[in-house]
Parts: sequence; C-alpha cells; structure tokens
Amino acid sequence: MDRSAHVKAVEARLREHPVVALLGARQVGKTTLAGELARRRKGVVTRFDLERPEDLRRLSDPILGLEHLRGLVVLDEVQRLPEIFPVLRVLADRRPLRARFLVLGSAAPELLRQSSESLAGRVAHYQLDPIGVDEVKAEALGRLWLRGGFPRALLARSERASHEWRDEFVRAFVERDLPQLGAPMPPAAAHRFWAMLAHYHGQVLSYSELGRAFGVSDVTVRRWLDVLVGTFMVRLLPPWHANLGKRLVKAPKLYLTDSGILHSLLGVVRHEELERHPRVGASWEGFALRAVERALGARRGESYFWATHAGAELDLLVVRGRTRRGFEVKRTTSPTVTKSMRIALEDLGLSSLDVVHAGRETFPLAPRIRAVAARRALLDISPLR
Ligand SMILES: Nc1ncnc2c1ncn2[C@@H]1O[C@H](COP(=O)(O)OP(=O)(O)OP(=O)(O)O)[C@@H](O)[C@H]1O
Ligand SMILES: [Mg+2]
Repeated sequence: MDRSAHVKAVEARLREHPVVALLGARQVGKTTLAGELARRRKGVVTRFDLERPEDLRRLSDPILGLEHLRGLVVLDEVQRLPEIFPVLRVLADRRPLRARFLVLGSAAPELLRQSSESLAGRVAHYQLDPIGVDEVKAEALGRLWLRGGFPRALLARSERASHEWRDEFVRAFVERDLPQLGAPMPPAAAHRFWAMLAHYHGQVLSYSELGRAFGVSDVTVRRWLDVLVGTFMVRLLPPWHANLGKRLVKAPKLYLTDSGILHSLLGVVRHEELERHPRVGASWEGFALRAVERALGARRGESYFWATHAGAELDLLVVRGRTRRGFEVKRTTSPTVTKSMRIALEDLGLSSLDVVHAGRETFPLAPRIRAVAARRALLDISPLR
C-alpha cells in the first residue's frame, strides 16, 4: 500500500515545526510511515520505541538521553512516557535548533494531559486515519467498506482472516491498550460497551439513554466515550447550531471511525451478511460520509450535522470560511428532493446540496441540488478551497 502522500505531508510539517506529533489509532500504520520517512531522509535519524524497556532506560534521564542528538529523533509510542513532553519543550526552544522530533502515539493530546499544554505553539499534529476511499482503486471500494481501512484488515488474504484480525484487534485494545492508558473501564465492560455503540452508529447521542442501556451513569458514559474518542475509535460529529432561533438538536452524532471494526463488533463477516444486517444503512451512511469528507479534503472541525426538532435534517454540513456545503446520504438508486432538503438549503444558506446515493450516475435534481453517485464521490465532489 503506497501511502507516500502522508510521508510528504509529515515531512512538510517537520520543516516548519521543531516537533511533529503523528497520531492515529493503534495499527493504523504510524511506525511504518515513520520508517519510510526515515529511509527517505538525508542525515541522522535516531529512533526510540518507548514500549521497549531498553529504550526507556536510555531515556531514564530524558534531557541527558536526548540533548546531544542531532538530525531527526523519532519517539514511538509516546503515550507510554507523557513526562517526555516538558523535556521536548526545552529541546524545541534551543537556538540554533539541534534536532527535530517526530513523536508517534495512539492517544490524542487530550488524553495525555501534559502534552497539549507543554508543547503549545511548538508542535504540529498530523492525524493518520485508516486507509480511505482516495487510497484504493475503484474496484476495491466494496472491500474497503466491509473490511475497513486498517492495513492488515484490508490486505488480509480472506474475509475470514480479516474478520479474525479485527476481532483480535478489539480484544487486544480493550485488554492491553486501555489499561495502559489508565482508562477507567474494565476490559470486559469496555468490550461490551463498544459493541453496544456499534448499534448506535450514525445516531444522535443520548448519554442518559446509553447509560440506561448499559446500566451505568451518564457521567460514566461520557468518560468512557472520551477514551474511545481520544484513541480514535469513535467519532462524535458535532451539531451545527448557529442559527435563527429554531429548536435544534444539540447532541452530537456518534460514529465508529472504521467500518471494519463496526462490522466486526456487529459480527458481520461477509458481504451477504452485511447486506442483510439491520444496521447496513447506518454503516453505508457512515462510509459514504467519510468518502465525501475525503473528496472535499475537509479538515477536523469543519464538519457538522444539522437537525431541527421539527424534523428537518442534514447528514453533513461542511463549513469553510463563507462556504457551506450540504450532503445527504440515501442508500437508494433513485434519490429525490425532500422537503427537509429544501429547508436545509434555505435555512443554512447552502451553496450546494449533494444527495449521495447508491446508483451509478451523478445528475442535477433541482437548482443547487444534485444526486451524486457514492462511487463517483472522488470524481464529482470538488475539493474545498
Ligand atoms: N502502507 C502499508 N501497506 C501495507 N501494510 C501496512 C502499511 N502500513 C502499515 N502496514 C501494516 O499494518 C500493521 C500496522 O502497522 P504499524 O505497526 O506501522 O502501525 P502503528 O500505527 O505503528 O501500530 P501501533 O499503534 O500498534 O504501534 C503492520 O503489520 C504493517 O506492516
Ligand atoms: Mg507503532
């Protein structure tokens, strides 16, 4: 799998910043990417893997361990040693700059409290997502949807092997990674909670409903969700609510970030099972929305959904500067314009509304409204400027 566009993007950030944090879910390909970057780079590269006891020992006094190094220093699994961040700050402030640091981790800065504060203004973040629709050939889209974008799951030799890899990934994640991060939930409960979330994929979140369904308080639900969001497993799409006194839905929508993990938690192995599954529509919607975001080049914080209590809604609103583009996803081959779409177009002042559907063609439906074939999303949806 060629992911060299990501390597270039990280290289560009390293030219501008003394510290770059390459973050993403476990097993998404961070170490591989850093290795590729190191191979391409001229000059010395020193690598520490903070999961290895001997590397940790070399850093038992981090200043002593790091201050003499030149070139690029890679610190892998940085979530294992958050105390390193204040040290990086000192090293990043030296002039002349003697070394640059590439830190790799599978937990967001919010989960590692020390990191965000200590490196403010010195660090660039780059999030590596699972393989997306723009990284595979058109023929592989169905496979990407079923298996998801973790390289090992996508490239496995059979559906069964892929499914087993994902099951094992989930198990290892709750049994090993969550406890290491000091997460508040016991492994078995975390597993069941995550599996329950799979059934809420694509729905507006109600902390109290989830709490009741799982038999814990809504405060607990929030804490557990924070962990799954901070480890890139769950995504909360915020509601858009800067608008005209209408009564709007103010809770976020919940999505599992990877369709393959979603299917694993739902017990879906093959396409036939997916097609018959009650959550197939929600799964397809989440997958299509990510495809739209990849086509747009939407950045974090630019995506919302919108819903009024009167029933009008929009699956995805992407806002950049004065541009507002709307997207509805319909798993049908004959999309039509609905009243809700017209309300969204007017109320939100959308420049365009695309109805992403399961058919083969892209065609106009009404002024400013198009039907866009999901499989053509990358061709027919122009990037944000
Ligand atoms: N571009 C790629 N093409 C093919 N396989 C890949 C690619 N990137 C990663 N992999 C495979 O996916 C698996 C995970 O990759 P890697 O170890 O780089 O991920 P990671 O994000 O560092 O994981 P962890 O958080 O567990 O350290 C490895 O088996 C690796 O060989
Ligand atoms: Mg790694």
